[in-house]
Amino acid sequence: MSTILIQNAQIVTMNAEETIVTGDILIENDRIKEIGQGLHAASADKIIDAANHTVIPGFVQTHIHLCQTLFRGKGDDLELMDWLRKRIWPLEAAHDQESIYYSAMLGIGELVESGTTTIVDMETVHHADFAFQAIAESGIRAVSGKVMMDKGSEVPAALQEKTADSIQQSVDLLEKWDQFDDGRIQYAFSPRFVVSCTEELLKEVKVLSDKYKTFVHTHASENKTEIEIVQQETGMRNVVYLDHLGLANDRLILAHCIWLDEEEKRIIKEKGVHVSHCPGSNLKLASGIAETPHLLHNHASVSLGADGAPCNNNLDMFNEMRLAALIQKPIHGPTAMDARTVFRMATIGGAKAVGLETEIGSIEVGKKADIAILNLQNFHTYPSYDVDPVSRIVYSATRADVVTTIINGRIIMENKIMRTMDKQI
Ligand code: GUN
Ligand code: FE
Repeated sequence: MSTILIQNAQIVTMNAEETIVTGDILIENDRIKEIGQGLHAASADKIIDAANHTVIPGFVQTHIHLCQTLFRGKGDDLELMDWLRKRIWPLEAAHDQESIYYSAMLGIGELVESGTTTIVDMETVHHADFAFQAIAESGIRAVSGKVMMDKGSEVPAALQEKTADSIQQSVDLLEKWDQFDDGRIQYAFSPRFVVSCTEELLKEVKVLSDKYKTFVHTHASENKTEIEIVQQETGMRNVVYLDHLGLANDRLILAHCIWLDEEEKRIIKEKGVHVSHCPGSNLKLASGIAETPHLLHNHASVSLGADGAPCNNNLDMFNEMRLAALIQKPIHGPTAMDARTVFRMATIGGAKAVGLETEIGSIEVGKKADIAILNLQNFHTYPSYDVDPVSRIVYSATRADVVTTIINGRIIMENKIMRTMDKQI
């Protein structure tokens, strides 16, 4: 058994009342055992003095491509379809086992160092096993899968797969990695987007995701050209088509959803589909500005993700939170996406999207210890004591302020030093 005691912290719990308390947190193995004042330190394996520090639930990012971390800066000024055809697909096709592993490790390092503890990740067609290896060794919590793409004339030959191979390889990876490390890793079927998937493949994904009770993770309605292609090929809009195939349910995670019509919005809400809003990517790829306040107002599930490193140039949730708030202000006014709303999306909202709201996303007794410790005493956040810490986190904090990241009760990063699973306390 291992125990960690975090003492004298300001705790942003994100429990139902969103209480902010000052006190101690006792972690026993992977879970939060106790929260209170003056908890007994005698038997703790490690004591963290968090006086003048703020403890928050680790961020949950619901759309990431670890395999793209090495492509940062490639196609900085392109729109989605050109960016994929000219840059990303050829680069993904050129990946080998080692480059996938290091791309994943580099991305995970950046995520953990900036306080993200859970990701929903989409790998490339080949070598996804090595990204899973990096996820396993690093200790990050992940829902991940090999991308599926069995259609598309402009896809490089090396990325084109046969429908049956795509399905078989996905099932093989699922059988190897789903529920690894007591459920820290979950498998998600990951058809890239409707543009690159045959109907046969998507129908099989529906059958398999029901059989194995897994998530389906895909992109939808990100870009107007993409939507036109889908309309021409299926006669339908993205979300309507996915619903038509039976895929619209609470195990579907859709990245982007910028250009939705009323029927698509209704499907998302009624079927409990989860939207991953990626504002940094949407700005950089000139995709558009999602109607996030409207979706939230209608009680749709919307969480946040950084997308791949080349969509955004970093994987930092502070960047995404700030952009999610700022981009709506000129359109809908200063409170359209206030700090609390954005912070909720980044924590408990993401936890709900991955079906783990009883396990992660808030700091409560019995939950998994997935936690980030921040120093909000740096010059850029200090000394606004009378300002809600959530506001300080959303509008002024940076990844440099994260001093410790704990996942599943393990210290994964401390003082900017990463620890892999074989170097635990
Ligand atoms: N749509 C299909 N593939 C991708 C991808 O890799 N990134 C983004 N942002 N959108 C996509
Ligand atoms: Fe993406």
